[in-house]
Amino acid sequence: MTDTHSSMFAPSLPSSVKVVEVGPRDGLQNEKVQISAEDKIALIEMLADAGVTYIESGSFVSPKWVPQMATSTDVFNGIKRKENVTYAALTPNMKGFEAAVAVHADEVAIFGAASEAFSQKNINCSIDESLQRFEPIMQAAKAANIPVRGYVSCVVGCPYEGDIAPEQVAMVAEKLYKMGCYEISLGDTIGVGTPASVTRMLQEVSTKVPVEKLAVHFHDTYGQALSNIYAALQTGIKVVDSAIAGLGGCPYAKGASGNVATEDVLYMLNGLGITTGIDFNKLLAAGWFISDKLDKAPISKVSLAYRTK
Ligand code: HMG
Ligand code: MG
Repeated sequence: MTDTHSSMFAPSLPSSVKVVEVGPRDGLQNEKVQISAEDKIALIEMLADAGVTYIESGSFVSPKWVPQMATSTDVFNGIKRKENVTYAALTPNMKGFEAAVAVHADEVAIFGAASEAFSQKNINCSIDESLQRFEPIMQAAKAANIPVRGYVSCVVGCPYEGDIAPEQVAMVAEKLYKMGCYEISLGDTIGVGTPASVTRMLQEVSTKVPVEKLAVHFHDTYGQALSNIYAALQTGIKVVDSAIAGLGGCPYAKGASGNVATEDVLYMLNGLGITTGIDFNKLLAAGWFISDKLDKAPISKVSLAYRTK
């Protein structure tokens, strides 16, 4: 069986996609309403039960910078884990990495940026300094046999610097890849990309990092996320980050809205005949569960459409 299939509409699409659920981390990190560890655990377990196999379940960052993530230790300790599910954590430095190891996170993610200004605002250091801070994490992770995912933020545009050159993204992505990250997730942090700019960026990055090692991470600020994912799939991307109920936003990216909603991504992939292993109805239920806790409706058009059926 080939790994791609063709239709009269799209020349080449993957037959399956891995969905990386970032809702419990990216989705919640910017929410002002403090969600209890118990509710975060319930959400993660609902997502796993729906068939999501990769869940970014928290981050070990400064609680002064991101108060919502301060409960990550309790969250990781409380999850009833499923064997086939990866429970990952975001770790900016050794202190975060050690906290992630202490709670047996299956994987960690380091996060850099293609924009100097965003790197300063987000993690309080330059791009080069961030790469230096990641080095000991890479070494310790290798010794402990923990896979490391790498993020690059601001891959199309930056809230402080404007347009970002694809070559700059490719340079940072290549450095993370050469440091040992098994996958590089390319983040359109403020959602300004269109299929044209995203395709250009992906073409450039894939001259430095094999496309099968790349993932896409879209925020939906300008309503372009699904179109961008569709464009990305046609360049050979098979890993897509999304957040349940379209939650999300980075506290250090002013104006950045939620991640693309997992429910909307799943609806599109199902329509394209691309498999994910995720149960649609259970996913919708997980989205309503966390939205109710936040006292708002999901930011997922698909979810809202099904609720009114
Ligand atoms: P800093 O102030 O430069 O760090 O912050 P420091 O080493 O000087 O330490 C200052 C204080 O923070 C100390 O505490 C440390 O102990 C503590 P104090 O002595 O003042 O009480 N500290 C920590 N505490 C807990 N866990 C840690 C940790 N490290 C230091 N790991 C730092 C540097 C990176 C820590 C800070 O800037 C930070 O936490 N930033 C948070 C960034 C963040 O979480 N952003 C959102 C996630 S990234 C994102 O959303 C983008 C993404 O989704 C992709 C996309 O959309 O583009 C991934
Ligand atoms: Mg993000």
